[in-house]
Amino acid sequence: MSDPPVTVIRAAPAEAADIRRRVREVDPATLGPDRVIATPAHAASLARMLADPRVSDPIYDLPRPITEDSVRAWIEAAADDQSRGDAVLILSMDEDGEVAGYSRFSVWPDRSSAEIAGATRADRQNRGQGTAGAARSFGWMFEVLGVRLIGLTAALDNARSARVIEAAGFRSMGERDSRRPDGTFRRSLYWEMTADEWRERYGPRPG
Ligand SMILES: CC(C)(COP(=O)(O)OP(=O)(O)OC[C@H]1O[C@@H](n2cnc3c(N)ncnc32)[C@H](O)[C@@H]1OP(=O)(O)O)[C@@H](O)C(=O)NCCC(=O)NCCS
Repeated sequence: MSDPPVTVIRAAPAEAADIRRRVREVDPATLGPDRVIATPAHAASLARMLADPRVSDPIYDLPRPITEDSVRAWIEAAADDQSRGDAVLILSMDEDGEVAGYSRFSVWPDRSSAEIAGATRADRQNRGQGTAGAARSFGWMFEVLGVRLIGLTAALDNARSARVIEAAGFRSMGERDSRRPDGTFRRSLYWEMTADEWRERYGPRPG
């Protein structure tokens, strides 16, 4: 549903095919502990988390209204996207088997580019874990998904997101329109970072 980054990279066919393979075969455990690929069996628990406006209000590309059925359809669509190498929806699970967070990675293999949208369950927000968690996800996108560019958006008033994105070193590129599933637009803050910029800041990939 989301649009690719403003900056256009043209990936060679071999690079795009490699990214598609990585997305299709990704091991969610490489993102962190207790991570799983979303399946329809998670629909009820994920819908419960997303129904909380503290979780979903700042996010433009969720299905609305948020119900168990709409969330199940969204999970199924993400599985289809993953089978083509275009997206992956990863959940973080708590000790009771409930969904405690999600990350949806949209990938444009032909442009060696990706985006992440995600949220943490309300009881786990504001504990000072967002900056480290986001940085881990950005590094994972460069190293595990293998893309060369990440574009990120946030609602104009989403101070926490802006804080974690800029702490990771993303370049602010002003604003852009984000297209909602219903075709309407939300004005967003917009940032980009390349893999080279990431490695310059955080060091070369291990190995
Ligand atoms: C965005 C989100 C993932 C951040 O995770 P979090 O664990 O709640 O964030 P933290 O408690 O680590 O706070 C992140 C940073 O914002 C800062 N912050 C918190 N409230 C703030 C405010 N009102 N204004 C400015 N900065 C603020 C924190 O101090 C922290 O910065 P620091 O690490 O330099 O101290 C989480 O809040 C969330 O899921 N929100 C709802 C969905 C959402 O907005 N998703 C992102 C869409 S782009």
